[in-house]
Amino acid sequence: MALGDDYCATAVQTMDEGPGTDEGPGTEEGPGTAKDQELRTKDQKPLFSTRLPSNLAPNRLTQALVQRRAAGPPIIDLTESNPTRAGFVYPPDLLAPMADPRGLVYVPQPLGALAARRAVADDYERRGAHVSPDHIVLTSGTSEAYSLLFKVLCDPSDNVLVPRPSYPLFEHLTRLDAVATRPYDLEYSHAWSIDLDSVERAFSERTRAVLVVHPNNPTGSFMKAHEFDRLADLCAAHQAAIIVDEVFADYELKPGTGRAGPILATRDALVFSLGGLSKAIGLPQVKLGWIAVGGPEAAVQGAIGRLEVANDAYLTVSTPAQLSAPTLLRAGADVRRQIRARVAGNYAQLLQQAERAPACRVLDTEGGWYAVLHVPSFGSEEDLVLDLLINDGVLVHPGYFFDFARESYLIVSLLAPEVSFSQGISLTLRHFTCTTGPA
Ligand SMILES: Cc1ncc(COP(=O)(O)O)c(C=O)c1O
Repeated sequence: MALGDDYCATAVQTMDEGPGTDEGPGTEEGPGTAKDQELRTKDQKPLFSTRLPSNLAPNRLTQALVQRRAAGPPIIDLTESNPTRAGFVYPPDLLAPMADPRGLVYVPQPLGALAARRAVADDYERRGAHVSPDHIVLTSGTSEAYSLLFKVLCDPSDNVLVPRPSYPLFEHLTRLDAVATRPYDLEYSHAWSIDLDSVERAFSERTRAVLVVHPNNPTGSFMKAHEFDRLADLCAAHQAAIIVDEVFADYELKPGTGRAGPILATRDALVFSLGGLSKAIGLPQVKLGWIAVGGPEAAVQGAIGRLEVANDAYLTVSTPAQLSAPTLLRAGADVRRQIRARVAGNYAQLLQQAERAPACRVLDTEGGWYAVLHVPSFGSEEDLVLDLLINDGVLVHPGYFFDFARESYLIVSLLAPEVSFSQGISLTLRHFTCTTGPA
């Protein structure tokens, strides 16, 4: 089970101690597990850093999943976020350009090959955004893009503002780079919006960036134009950058929501837009992502120069991936179309089924690959998802993995094949019909 996919939060116990909070990555942690203590040196100094959790044991959901799978009857997985396992038809020769013989020669280029950066710039153009290839840096994925940006923007114990609820990997990514997080809130009332006052309150002397996922995972909410303007003003005033994760930007479910336009065009604050093949064309295994930089020209040049130095230390992006980028970005449109149709069809199916389950409410989703269900519950979300897994054979994620302010939320991926999605949703909704009395 890879940390990098959305399943990450089930892999290890929640990291609830030590760094990663605003107490700062430098805080000293109390003694770890008995195993860790065995690994302490004679003078009791810990052997390992606090950038990783001291407790590596699988959590209850992962344990139950292993047992349920071993027991035999198949489960319906409504957490699937790996497009290569979701039944899409990939053109069999899609990866043929990776065998380009030019790849037999190694030409290290810290920003990435110009032809590949041009192809990424063209892809922004397709989405109505203009960016020069000179303002693009290639990475091995969006997760690495975050790590490079934390290195470029933050000293240890500086902080970044992260949305709540949002993507669980932020906790790991920031902690691995010794960066602290301070949450700001997304509010829901018929639709999601950014609580801009909470953003303002979250800034501190050591805030180096505000992270926005656009559309957000898992709420599916796009940042609106007026929200972006306000964030840009706040960031300019606090000498901080905006990092906008646009990996799901192609998957709009509901046009006309007033989503912020091309964010790279702003001159008010330093802005980074992140993307990658992983979501844009459903090829996470090719390991190609990018950072596009916008904002005041001097800041842009300062950022690109530093990203170049940081990237030069690792040079992670493979030559075959760079050589094939132009062809992949064109040919992959076919896979994107399939994912779009699947996600839209499953969301419509969810809304339709939920109409017959008045105890449950589907929160409004504007884009992305996920939907949020508000359900009646009398116990903890953890007990609820375990019950659904063990007794109904359906795997969903609990809202607390994504740091929802309150319990009673379930997150489902819209990527599952239509028939199993429909069955899984039906079983999930029926669970609440039974627990809340006759429909
Ligand atoms: C919001 C978001 N950003 C980034 C990533 C990671 O993308 P990549 O595969 O490019 O590292 C994910 C993965 O699920 C994601 O959900």
